[in-house]
Amino acid sequence: MKSVVIEQPGKLVIQQRELPQPAADEVRVKVKFAGICGSDVHIFHGHNPFAKYPRVIGHEFFGVIDAIGSDVDDRQLGERVSVDPVVSCGQCYPCSVGRPNVCASLQVIGVHRDGGFSDYACVPARNAYRIPDTISDRHAAMIEPFTIAANITAHLQPTEQDVALIYGAGPMGLTVIQTLKGVYRVRQVIVVDRVTERLAMALENGADWVFDNAQASLADELEQRGIRPTLIVDAACHPAILSEAIALASPAARIGIMGFSADPCTITQQSITSKELSLFSSRLNSARFPQVIDWMANGLIDPQRLITHCVDALEVADALRLFEEDRRTCCKVLLHFD
Ligand code: NAI
Ligand code: MN
Repeated sequence: MKSVVIEQPGKLVIQQRELPQPAADEVRVKVKFAGICGSDVHIFHGHNPFAKYPRVIGHEFFGVIDAIGSDVDDRQLGERVSVDPVVSCGQCYPCSVGRPNVCASLQVIGVHRDGGFSDYACVPARNAYRIPDTISDRHAAMIEPFTIAANITAHLQPTEQDVALIYGAGPMGLTVIQTLKGVYRVRQVIVVDRVTERLAMALENGADWVFDNAQASLADELEQRGIRPTLIVDAACHPAILSEAIALASPAARIGIMGFSADPCTITQQSITSKELSLFSSRLNSARFPQVIDWMANGLIDPQRLITHCVDALEVADALRLFEEDRRTCCKVLLHFD
């Protein structure tokens, strides 16, 4: 089989590997579609502190189970599945309180262990979620990015009366917009970015209005309109954003962050406590595949609106470059494995 391997930072090869055999509790997935994510690019460049090399990247993938380990129910053979990349121990404190996404010995498929940019991938059977026939193969590869939105919104508990502000209209911002509008029916979703084409995508994904904060001050615009957001998501993840979000937020607002920058940001207790703001962080997803599969099957979210490219997996190097360099035409890129 062929696998996309980052041998060391900066070195991507398509390698011929032996077909892997599933361990007792694993299934083998014949991969069909896999999505490119910013974190794949980070591992490629050596910017992910958790990655070990050589590594088969890819954590957003769909395929068909073609072999099973000795402990796995043979009814799973032939199932169409999407794979939850979060592998957890089930024993530690976070696992015991339903937060396997921050398991004390967390293993992320495609980061800590080999992933889905490969003709075949062996994964724990319980990480493979059966996909209903009404969801297409391509769309099934988009479930994982929507689980990120499902996780952060579960923390934020949106309501119809919220006025939401989303920073960043990349894949993460767009999945959050769709979730807020399609699932939670939030009245007003405002999106801020600095790339015109991304703002256009935000509108296509359901934003009520958008704002380019490279051109003018968001604070001034909100003040003129008399708006104080009650729910804010930072899906741009620049360290300067949190303090602005705190300043713009309505009293009693909730703010969600999802960034991994190690740079400090300056905020005061007063700015948070005086408005009794709630701050939530969100990492990966805690068993949210069933929820997102349900949303997709019921048409509450539409992954097609994010997919701008679908290419043969052998073109992965060009696809990664396009994904990284062309934010204007490129959002979600799917790799197709024959
Ligand atoms: P992306 O880079 O495609 O999108 C970010 C967007 O934010 C871009 O369109 C950019 O123009 C915009 N932006 C940057 N600075 C801005 C600013 N100051 N104001 C307004 N807009 C600004 O990235 P993607 O894939 O959408 O991911 C977003 C972030 O989420 C990344 O930092 C990533 O590390 C993080 N992430 C976190 C996850 C988690 O589980 N916590 C999972 C996946 C991604
Ligand atoms: Mn991802």
